[in-house]
Amino acid sequence: MSIRVMNIVGARPNFMKIAPIIDAIRKRTDLEQILVHTGQHYDEAMSDAFFRDLELPRPDENLNVGSGTHAEQTARIMLAFEPVLLKYRPDWVLVVGDVNSTLACTLVSSKLNTRVCHVEAGLRSFDRSMPEEINRLVTDTLADLLLTPSRDADLNLLREGIHPDRIRFVGNVMIDTLYRVLPKTASCDILERLGLEEHNFCVVTMHRPSNVDNPVLFPRQLAAIAEIASDCPCVFPIHPRTRARIREFGLEDLVNETAGLKLIEPLGYLDFLALFSRARLVLTDSGGLQEETSVLGIPCLTMRENTERPVTVKEGTNRLVGTDPDTILAAAREALSVGRRPPAQIEYWDGKASERIVEALISM
Ligand code: UD1
Repeated sequence: MSIRVMNIVGARPNFMKIAPIIDAIRKRTDLEQILVHTGQHYDEAMSDAFFRDLELPRPDENLNVGSGTHAEQTARIMLAFEPVLLKYRPDWVLVVGDVNSTLACTLVSSKLNTRVCHVEAGLRSFDRSMPEEINRLVTDTLADLLLTPSRDADLNLLREGIHPDRIRFVGNVMIDTLYRVLPKTASCDILERLGLEEHNFCVVTMHRPSNVDNPVLFPRQLAAIAEIASDCPCVFPIHPRTRARIREFGLEDLVNETAGLKLIEPLGYLDFLALFSRARLVLTDSGGLQEETSVLGIPCLTMRENTERPVTVKEGTNRLVGTDPDTILAAAREALSVGRRPPAQIEYWDGKASERIVEALISM
């Protein structure tokens, strides 16, 4: 009898993580799989584009939960997910990352005595004001199999008293997707479409509530980015939350009147990879981008006070610059004068994490 795995996706960063896992499971005759999309992200640009670019199968179930406060969204996912879990009765529920969908489906599965496998376990920013940190802590406490992307994650889990038998170091599954899609970017014309010259522009992304929801800090950060854009063109694919704050804080004029600053709609995976892989510098508050830039040797300035991905700072191209606008500006000017770095060789960030994930699942 085959082992039934229920894969969960909900928000943008989940799609790149699940794609290679689905492919690896497909190759096994002893495993069968079901895909559940919670609908945490639902827009064409935040969800559908990724299904197309990553050739993800149509979800077997879509919970269509949409946006809301943390409690509303988490509760809606739990309510909608419980009957789906009971309908399929999988042997494993596989969750990825640290979004609200990860936490909600873990909670429901644990209560129904279904085994949970958490991919990207053990990351810690040690900052509980960050919603993802709460999601990570609860998910890792409950999950039966904790698959880690880096050695530091194993140490975090051991320090929290988690039994070593529950932990497996498998590497970074998002890098599997990066290596698979990278060859396809050669024929992507995103630079021409945006009028950019290779290695002569910055990519900016910001969406963390701690930055963009702050009415004092965010306008000053955006002003710093506008200054950077006067030295080197900046492309800023804009998350819906950030777009809303720009409107709310009256920052549209600043954005529209800065010549080198180009705000664009959020991009699908292929366009975005084609874009940032040819950038001179990335400025971000994203988690995944710290990893992707490290592997490609693109300097990355992370506009946060902490990171749950310290290996990208130690071994990669990531530098934590904090959230102060003056520091961000000075760091960007310095990084622009230095340019590219050698790609990082991080243990098990080798494009084979999904194979190790499947091995771990069947060996438990
Ligand atoms: C979520 C994740 C975050 C991840 C990010 C990537 C949590 C707690 N946070 O944050 O870890 O880095 O996704 O994008 O799970 N919206 C749309 N269209 C959509 C989705 C959202 O317009 O398809 C807007 C809504 O106004 C919504 C807001 O974006 O209220 C925020 O969406 P939400 O899912 O709550 O969190 P993110 O900020 O996207």
